Amino acid sequence: MHGGVALTAYLVNESRARRPDLAADPLAQAWIPEADRPGVRALWQEYAEAVYPHDDLVVALRGRVIADVLAAALAADPATVLVVCGAGFSSYPWLLPFPAALEVDLPAMAEAKQRRAEELTAAGTLPAREVVHLGADLGAEADRARVAAAVRELAAGRPVAYVVEGVLFYLPPRDALAVAGLGAGFGAGGAAVSAVSYWPAAASGSRVLEAQRAWFRGRQVPPEASYQTNAELTALFGRPLRDVGPEDLQRRYLGGVKVPESELIPEYVAVAGAGAAGAAGAVAG
Ligand SMILES: C[S@@+](CC[C@H](N)C(=O)[O-])C[C@H]1O[C@@H](n2cnc3c(N)ncnc32)[C@H](O)[C@@H]1O
Repeated sequence: MHGGVALTAYLVNESRARRPDLAADPLAQAWIPEADRPGVRALWQEYAEAVYPHDDLVVALRGRVIADVLAAALAADPATVLVVCGAGFSSYPWLLPFPAALEVDLPAMAEAKQRRAEELTAAGTLPAREVVHLGADLGAEADRARVAAAVRELAAGRPVAYVVEGVLFYLPPRDALAVAGLGAGFGAGGAAVSAVSYWPAAASGSRVLEAQRAWFRGRQVPPEASYQTNAELTALFGRPLRDVGPEDLQRRYLGGVKVPESELIPEYVAVAGAGAAGAAGAVAG
């Protein structure tokens, strides 16, 4: 298992693997080889005891709404190309029939994902899909430009659905905003839909977040978190966005709030563009 920030990809994968139905991700379980799963489970348990026991809920819900938004974007235009920044072990390119996808992560993680995807495709666990795995540091301007160029080449004029899930808070504030807004440079008109998860500035005093930062500090994960505001993201996308938080998502997918936001990582998903209607249902309840 990788140390540092890549470790978070294993943690959230375990969270989704614990709630495959809620996450609508039956593939989550497959990403970590059986031999490594006990170590990942032990790490998850340690995190649950030290920080909060509901990461499975928060991660499954954010993944679920993003999957719904992507399904709506694909239904609106089946030529839509998927781009995921900080992809970790998320499964979207194999859950939905996008004609092409680009997944971006730090080089070691992108290589590990590519290797595992090849193994799982050969075994028939994953359907064959056109997925480009690009190693890049999203905290570096030159790498972001490389990502934007790769997207333009892959999309070749087709609409783009852009996902940034579970990564913005690990980047310094300026870089985080640049990554959230990267979709604007994906060809004429920018990304058709963007779904970006983030921690709202208003939630920066969260007790759970404080415990999380303390736990990560001993594990080479950047200790400083970055936060965004709805206004900052709206300005970046250049159009209104739908913003849904953990309580909105519980209402939508669980029929009511089972765990209040004060006991959760306060992660919100901002959706702008064609798939925003999918998130609108989450707001309406
Ligand atoms: C919490 S995981 C989320 C993974 C995936 N999006 C998901 O929801 O399962 C954060 C991911 O962001 C990646 N990441 C963190 N900092 C990064 C950076 N500077 N450049 C590229 N990827 C980064 C990590 O390697 C990891 O895969």
